[in-house]
Amino acid sequence: MSSASLPRPWLLLSLLALLLSAAAGASAQAPATVEPTRQQALLRMVRQDCGACHGMQLTGGLGPAITAQALAEGERSPELVFATIWYGRPGTPMPPWRGLLSEAEARWMSAQLLAGLPALNGGPR
Ligand code: HEC
Repeated sequence: MSSASLPRPWLLLSLLALLLSAAAGASAQAPATVEPTRQQALLRMVRQDCGACHGMQLTGGLGPAITAQALAEGERSPELVFATIWYGRPGTPMPPWRGLLSEAEARWMSAQLLAGLPALNGGPR
């Protein structure tokens, strides 16, 4: 075994830190930005979890359409979309997601919805 193929300790440590912070859930040390790997997980969540109610293409189902076009037509602000994701809509089936997302992640998701989620159309699955 050559030493070149041995994993470097700092790499292992940073991987461990990443895993730990992911497991700890986010609120205490919410990242200012959303890491690319987490972005992929969030986009998957939108397609699968949100899509279960809002439709595979987000064009509506049990919940209303939340495509960029629908949100623009309803003049939904980033703050309103974020608050809907974060707190849910009490009295409706729309659940709160604040236990599952950090605030930065919910804001990022809101921005992606308003921007039209490019990864939904031909992005990596
Ligand atoms: C169990 C079903 C369900 C799931 C899962 C769900 N939603 Fe909803 N959502 C709803 C319903 C129903 C409404 C309409 C609430 C109302 O009547 O105000 C809604 C409303 C919304 C709205 C407001 C739309 C508008 O026009 O103001 C947004 C944005 C939204 N959901 C985003 C999401 C996102 C993002 C996810 C995934 C993280 C998600 N929803 C998951 C059922 C769901």
